[in-house]
Amino acid sequence: MSKPKVLITRKWPASVETKLKQLYDVSLNEDDLPLTSEELKSALQNYDAVCPSVCDSLPAEVLNASNKRCKILGNFGVGYNHIDIAAAKENGLVVTNTPGVLTQSTADIAMTLLLMSARRGAEGDRLVRAGKWHGWCPTHMLSSDVTGATLGLIGFGRIAIATARKAHHGFGMKIVFFNPSAPDPSVIEELQATRCDSVEDVMRRADYISLHCPGGPDTRHLIDDKMIRLMKPNAHLINTARGDVVDSKALIDALRDKRIAGAGLDVYEGEPNIDPGFLTLENATLLPHLGSATLSTRNAMGEKVLANLAAFFEGREPEDRVA
Ligand code: DGY
Repeated sequence: MSKPKVLITRKWPASVETKLKQLYDVSLNEDDLPLTSEELKSALQNYDAVCPSVCDSLPAEVLNASNKRCKILGNFGVGYNHIDIAAAKENGLVVTNTPGVLTQSTADIAMTLLLMSARRGAEGDRLVRAGKWHGWCPTHMLSSDVTGATLGLIGFGRIAIATARKAHHGFGMKIVFFNPSAPDPSVIEELQATRCDSVEDVMRRADYISLHCPGGPDTRHLIDDKMIRLMKPNAHLINTARGDVVDSKALIDALRDKRIAGAGLDVYEGEPNIDPGFLTLENATLLPHLGSATLSTRNAMGEKVLANLAAFFEGREPEDRVA
């Protein structure tokens, strides 16, 4: 029997690509250039499996391509808001993701951004590089404490809980959160966490607000001008979730007017074409979507996709099926 034809839309870690070559009739993306909508449609028509990632937009218009050969989208990533899940289901496509394996690395980046924003790390780095540092002085670049401050989490899934653990056990932070469903009581007890009744409540109470809700139409601009105006003037907003959860214009205005102290961002609306308004703000710390970017995490994500494809082609239920 011939091997299934698999298309990988971007460059993956070498060890995973080696395994893909052994197992499948695979097309890799050596140049690592994002595919166009037309190329994605053609992939759906010519491959048994297509393995996209967050940079591939798969709306209904693409998924409805005629004469599809593809039966499974093995997404390389936990978030899948770039795939229209309803349209995938209508088209009989199985969709899988990679939960669990990127929890710690993404929580590490949330803490990195929190610390950098609180202690003005990026601003200090820019100052030194620009040759503008003239020596230690008692009132130079004063910032805010992290230890003992209150961390507010919007969403309380795996990554939020991992972030809360690092913040609470490592930095003595108090934890407040909003989540639509009730989490495991043992986690609440371990973290001495307070469950708030609303997102607004978290926005009012926290010194640092970290976003951990999924992207997509339900959460688009959840953090808008009204929400930002509820934040304390010394508060910081951290986003490692999805860019469109935050109204960029409203955040830029708040940072420019110094209505809040800072923002640490790893994700952006329309990334990588981010709003240029962010670029001149000293109180914005900007990372290029690095949440899961450690070699071992990216290897583990690839292994998850491999396991999901293997299950599918062997007629078993893939462990991480989301559609
Ligand atoms: C994820 O896995 O969702 C990361 O943001 C990369 O897509």
